[in-house]
Amino acid sequence: MGDSTTVYEFAADAGIARLAPAGTGDPDGVGGHVVFRHSARWLPQRIDHEAADLLSRFTVPRTADEVISAYCHDRGEQAAAVVDDARQVVAVMVGRGVLVAQGQSGSPPAVGWASGYRTLRCVRSTDDAEVWEATGPDGEHVALKIAAGDDDVAMLHQEAMILPRLNGVAVPRLVEWRPGPDLCLLATQWTQGISPDAAAAPLIDQARAGSAAAFTALLDLALSILDAYIALHAADVVHGDVHQGNILVAGTTATLVDFGQARPWLPPMLVPTRRVEPGYAEPEFATAMLHRHPSPHPSAASDQYSLATLLYGLFTGSRYLPHTTNLRDWLHRVAHQPPDPLPDWTRRHHPALETVLHRALAKNPTDRYPTLAQLRHDLVAARPVHDSAPQVRCW
Ligand SMILES: Nc1ncnc2c1ncn2[C@@H]1O[C@H](COP(=O)(O)OP(=O)(O)OP(=O)(O)O)[C@@H](O)[C@H]1O
Ligand SMILES: [Mg+2]
Repeated sequence: MGDSTTVYEFAADAGIARLAPAGTGDPDGVGGHVVFRHSARWLPQRIDHEAADLLSRFTVPRTADEVISAYCHDRGEQAAAVVDDARQVVAVMVGRGVLVAQGQSGSPPAVGWASGYRTLRCVRSTDDAEVWEATGPDGEHVALKIAAGDDDVAMLHQEAMILPRLNGVAVPRLVEWRPGPDLCLLATQWTQGISPDAAAAPLIDQARAGSAAAFTALLDLALSILDAYIALHAADVVHGDVHQGNILVAGTTATLVDFGQARPWLPPMLVPTRRVEPGYAEPEFATAMLHRHPSPHPSAASDQYSLATLLYGLFTGSRYLPHTTNLRDWLHRVAHQPPDPLPDWTRRHHPALETVLHRALAKNPTDRYPTLAQLRHDLVAARPVHDSAPQVRCW
């Protein structure tokens, strides 16, 4: 934590949300609050009413001492233990990047390192990495990634080694790689696009209401994403980080970004710790986490599973397993619970969709499709009869 004069506020992408009271939609049925940070890799974390009361006071930027003293005063409790607890809660939230020093959320990148680049907008800022929309020395529109800290530097190294191998196929072109011992910069061509769920959202309601054209557009969207991954796997590259934020969709093209977790690892073998978005984790990873084993390496089969979780949501608008905010419960579901059946309305459009997605979501990797090309084949072979309907594109 900073010194006692540091004024804290919520990071731009962080906050507290109230869960519905028990029995009114809260998946775990206990009510309360959660604290979240969109750019972080942890799930929203449940906090009790006291912590929520304490943290909500940072909605107005204030020092930790001011907030803790007002909190204790309002509660009529000045005991040292209460003050210590409050200090600990604030320290944890500062450590997790939920509370930041005033004005530091999305501050410009490290001076000097971005020389030659003009930053336009901070896309993502985490403890050790920043992503900026920027223009390069020759005016090219780029995504600028800057990393400090061992793991983030290792991931940027990995990305810099993988991208040239793909040479712009299904991925942005590498513009510049500027490595350094403690800080690295990687610029890629800026790619217009939106996330798959944003592209699918307007279509799902229409498809649910019976529109064959909207369902065909959803299918085409799914195929464009599959095609990008098929191209990736054809180049012997495993993404290892399939999720909504790493796919940009524009028209009939999907572009994949973020190759920090990709394989194969190329020299100099700076192997980063594997990080996974829990909602897309494969059973191999979930099982390893539950047993406290080292995380397994990503594989084409794990890409397929994660992609199937994404496609399930894309076609149905729902998660493939019942949601929970408890990470351990979630990992247990991923490891053991069969995926939910698809809603009935999808069967009217594509009777085999459930069979295809459930195979890709098999718990045992060897029960999944041998390749994504075969998954794609089954999706198209069982294409609904009305696929000649006019195509609707909403993205
Ligand atoms: N070349 C690009 N063109 C357009 N947008 C990009 C590009 N590269 C990255 N982005 C945007 O920046 C966001 C963050 O980039 P990226 O995923 O590479 O960084 P990250 O910090 O490793 O993200 P995370 O750890 O959350 O997966 C992406 O979700 C995407 O919206
Ligand atoms: Mg990413």
